Amino acid sequence: MENDWDKAISSLSKINVFSNPNNEPVTISGEADDLKCIGVGTDAAVFQSLSAPTYAFKIYAKDKIHKVKIEANVYQILEGSPFFSTCFASYDEFLVLSYEEGPTLFDCILQGIHIPEQVVNEVEDAREYVRNKGLNPRDIHLKNILLQNGRAKIIDVSEYTLQGNDFRWEHFKKGYEQYYHLIDGNPVPLWLVEKIRKRYNQRGKNASYEEFTKNILKLLYKN
Ligand SMILES: Nc1ncnc2c1ncn2[C@@H]1O[C@H](COP(=O)(O)OP(=O)(O)O)[C@@H](O)[C@H]1O
Ligand SMILES: [Mg+2]
Repeated sequence: MENDWDKAISSLSKINVFSNPNNEPVTISGEADDLKCIGVGTDAAVFQSLSAPTYAFKIYAKDKIHKVKIEANVYQILEGSPFFSTCFASYDEFLVLSYEEGPTLFDCILQGIHIPEQVVNEVEDAREYVRNKGLNPRDIHLKNILLQNGRAKIIDVSEYTLQGNDFRWEHFKKGYEQYYHLIDGNPVPLWLVEKIRKRYNQRGKNASYEEFTKNILKLLYKN
C-alpha cells in the first residue's frame, strides 16, 4: 500500500540520531534538503518533510529504538483522543505522527506567550483519560505540551507503560497556580529557564516542591 509520507522515507534514512548522557538532548548527524528538524528530546529528534508537511517523523536515537514499538503501542491505546497527536505508522527507527502546530509551553515561557488556565485543565483531563485506558501519564513537562489555539496537545507518550509518578506535572501545576501571575506575559530569559531546569533535574530524590521553590527564590534574589 502506498502512503503519502513514502516520499519522505529516503531522506529520513540519511539522518542518524545519537543519545547523550545526563538527560541532555540527542545529537543529529547527516542532512537532507527537504527535512526540517522541528524539535529534539532526550530519546529522539523530530522532523517535518517539505514533501509531506502534515506529518512529524520522530526518529529515535540508535540505542533507544526499542522505544519505537512501545510508543506506537501507547498511541494505539489512546487512539481517538483530541489531547494527543495521531500515530499513523511505525518503522524500525521512527514513528509517523501528525504534525502538530503551536509552541511548546517551554517556548511560551521563553517568549512570554500567555498560557491559559484551560491548558492546565485539559492536561488534567488528558491524564484522567490515560489512566482510564490503564496507562500511567508520566513525563508530562513543558516540552511535551503544545499550546494549540488556546488548547493543550500532548506530544510525547513514550513513558506511559512505565510505573511510578515523576511528579513533573504536579509540580508544574502548583508552580503555575502559585507563581505564574508574576511572569504572565513577560519573556523569561533562556539562561534563567535553563538554570531552573537543571536545578530541578538535579534536585535531591526526596526534595519537596516547597524546598525546591525556596531554593529557586533564593537564586532569584541573588540575581
Ligand atoms: N507531532 C509533533 N508535532 C510537532 N512537533 C513535535 C511533534 N512531536 C514532537 N515534536 C517536537 O519535538 C520535540 C521532541 O519530541 P519528543 O516526542 O518529546 O521526543 P523525546 O521522546 O526524545 O522527548 C518536542 O519537544 C516538540 O518540540
Ligand atoms: Mg519529550
